Amino acid sequence: MNDLHNINEPKAIPSIWSDTRAAGFTMASEPLTCSLLRTLAASKPSSRFLELGSGTGLSTAWLLDGMDAESHLTTVDNDESLLSILQANLGADPRLKVVCSDGDDYLRALRGEHFDFIFADTWTGKYRLLHDALELLNPGGLYVIDDMLSQPNWPEGHAEKVADLVATLEQMEGFRVTKLSWASGVILATKL
Ligand SMILES: C[S@@+](CC[C@H](N)C(=O)[O-])C[C@H]1O[C@@H](n2cnc3c(N)ncnc32)[C@H](O)[C@@H]1O
Repeated sequence: MNDLHNINEPKAIPSIWSDTRAAGFTMASEPLTCSLLRTLAASKPSSRFLELGSGTGLSTAWLLDGMDAESHLTTVDNDESLLSILQANLGADPRLKVVCSDGDDYLRALRGEHFDFIFADTWTGKYRLLHDALELLNPGGLYVIDDMLSQPNWPEGHAEKVADLVATLEQMEGFRVTKLSWASGVILATKL
């Protein structure tokens, strides 16, 4: 088995990748993680999805490809130029709401709302305001993060932040947590 063979990427991906490379964006999510996101998304019909850290829309495209017609995705990033790539490629999808905002501000403003799936791919909801993000999940809701395995480009001090986050999630009550040392390193947490 080869994990990348016949991965059947969504139609928009080649165009988003081409725009992403042209923009020099280097923090894009990798295909394996994105494929897992799509599979998990497909297990949640009629659901509300939240993505923190849209980038140019790579993971967004895969999430949308797994979601059914009754589901909705809100994606948030503070970089307008990255979001313009996302909008150009995915903006016509009526299930998608694109928000340009500081993630912390937006997450705080969401207090009281509920989601069935959160992909936290920026500082917000992961290294900052983790509990605020988890509070938004419905029972049975999924929290997903990646980039948990050591990477050469990590700045000084980041490895400690990752270790702290892993330890927090390992000990968290009210969730069922699985760590996958696969792709960039994924953690899945389901709320009880
Ligand atoms: C790892 S990248 C996201 C990659 C994206 N999910 C993908 O599939 O390619 C992290 C993103 O967080 C965004 N970001 C950084 N600080 C932020 C903040 N304070 N509020 C909102 N977004 C932020 C960056 O602009 C960047 O696009």
